[in-house]
Amino acid sequence: MNAVVVNRAAPGGLALTTVPEPEPLPSEALVRVAAISLNLGEVRRAKNNPDGWRPGWDFAGTVEAKARDGSGPPAGARVVGMLGEGAWAERLAAPTQSLATLPDGVTFERAATLPVAGLTALYALGKRGSLLGRSVLVTGASGGVGVFATQLARLAGARVGALVHRAEKRAAVEPFADEVFVGESAGGGPYDVILESVGGGVFANALKLLAVDGMLVTYGTSAERTSTIEVAPFYLKGGNSIYGFYLFHELERQPAGQGLTRLAGLLAAGKLDVRIDDVLPIARIGDAADRLWNRGVTGKLVVAF
Ligand SMILES: NC(=O)c1ccc[n+]([C@@H]2O[C@H](COP(=O)([O-])OP(=O)(O)OC[C@H]3O[C@@H](n4cnc5c(N)ncnc54)[C@H](OP(=O)(O)O)[C@@H]3O)[C@@H](O)[C@H]2O)c1
Repeated sequence: MNAVVVNRAAPGGLALTTVPEPEPLPSEALVRVAAISLNLGEVRRAKNNPDGWRPGWDFAGTVEAKARDGSGPPAGARVVGMLGEGAWAERLAAPTQSLATLPDGVTFERAATLPVAGLTALYALGKRGSLLGRSVLVTGASGGVGVFATQLARLAGARVGALVHRAEKRAAVEPFADEVFVGESAGGGPYDVILESVGGGVFANALKLLAVDGMLVTYGTSAERTSTIEVAPFYLKGGNSIYGFYLFHELERQPAGQGLTRLAGLLAAGKLDVRIDDVLPIARIGDAADRLWNRGVTGKLVVAF
């Protein structure tokens, strides 16, 4: 079968090649993949791994063989799921706790956008408890995670501010946010919860906007890994915290299947909107990775098998 591997000589450093068929463990289902979506983090990983390494987190497709331990969806079920690596392949073996069955009407392309971006948004927003009546700021709001986070915060009953990098991307979040800010610093506030993924000055500026007892959830450094912060104003406000969010750690407590079931249900009910920038064929996986890396994407980029 075909799978995507790192190949520095190929466009975008990625190529399709023939690999052995997957051999599912008893707790894994065999899935034929129909669509995948790309995340900035896995494109970055692909750049840092040697030729032959198989990237891939998000997928949607059809179960070809149910897990031998009897868990999970039956053969023929349409599913969405995620792996730690190797999901950009025609077929894969997926732990059943990482799978959710797709409701009718949710296409593979839309479902494939959910795993890493949607789960990061959902689980990160859950860190501060109920958001009903609270204020939330999302930075990097026009990105894959950001568009989901803005919508999910609003759905949870929060007042939402969204910070985007460039003015031309504000339209991506305008329908979902109460206020949209452009540049390195948001206005409004103070915010009870801040989802921060840009780093550098954006991180430092966002920290100043925390409310008393507020929580900044940091999960990315799209712009800059280091940040200089004013420490005293942070602690003098009282009760503030910074939570370091790493999805693969969170999944040990809340398996992907749980969150994906909720997200797929919201899609089916028309309560969650997916911003798909483009759907490319798998032969163009290298172009897709280049587009994401060069900031040519708003929302999610999908690749179909
Ligand atoms: N910790 C975890 O478990 C976890 C999980 C998922 C994602 N992440 C990280 O979270 C970040 C967002 O992921 P994603 O998939 O949503 O990425 P994405 O789709 O590429 O979105 C990145 C966002 O950051 C903005 N941005 C980039 N450079 C910027 C800059 N210099 N100043 C201000 N904004 C800037 C982008 O705006 P423009 O397009 O306008 O530049 C875009 O809105 C990534 O760094 C990713 O690695 C971490």
